[in-house]
Amino acid sequence: MEFKKFDNEIDASKFAADIVLDLIKNNNKAKLGLATGSTPITLYDILCSDYIKNKTNWSEVKTFNLDEYYGLSIESKASYHYFMNHHLFSKININKSNTYFPSENNNYDNLIKQNGSIDLQILGIGTNGHIGFNEPGSDINSLTRLVDLTKSTIEVNAKKFFNNDISAVPKKAISMGLKSIMQAKKIVLLAFGSSKYDAISKLKKSTKFDPNFPASVLFDHPDVTIIIDKEADIDL
Ligand code: PGA
Repeated sequence: MEFKKFDNEIDASKFAADIVLDLIKNNNKAKLGLATGSTPITLYDILCSDYIKNKTNWSEVKTFNLDEYYGLSIESKASYHYFMNHHLFSKININKSNTYFPSENNNYDNLIKQNGSIDLQILGIGTNGHIGFNEPGSDINSLTRLVDLTKSTIEVNAKKFFNNDISAVPKKAISMGLKSIMQAKKIVLLAFGSSKYDAISKLKKSTKFDPNFPASVLFDHPDVTIIIDKEADIDL
């Protein structure tokens, strides 16, 4: 696991964007695993600016999102379908039929396998150490499934995306599992701001999988880059 620390979120996101763009330039049929949340927004903005400037060709790229809320219409502004469309897909020349999200009925892990594996998985991290919506207690062998969100995740997401209305936040989601995530060839995890400090400190100290801190599973992956700003890790 390699840590890369930057002065600010913009420089960190530029570094991550270069990893994504290098991959696509070398393989126009690249398969990307994508994350939602506040963390990757700057990365997606940079990818959109690159498209305007350099016309990087996304037409044959396939994307697989990590998760989606359960019980929310995909047209809802709070859905991750909407998020991805708004922040990335509508601003690049990706073919919408090449963009995939987990759902109850689409046998997502098989779908990913049929398309070859994910070349590069982008991840955020929850303050409780979740990756995707694999909350504490998740099984190391978990595949894509319906999960219950924890109280802390619901509270954090209410603040960030639901006007602080806890009752509006879905209580369940469909998430790729820890095993699904670990099958990606390369993983880039982004973490910005002091709210991620504790999670990043724990990740640095991880030496084996701890189900109470799901991100610790990454310790066993051969190619993980953790990209952080200085607030997320004042010690490095
Ligand atoms: P955030 O969420 O990017 O909104 O901080 C990350 C996560 O919960 O995985």
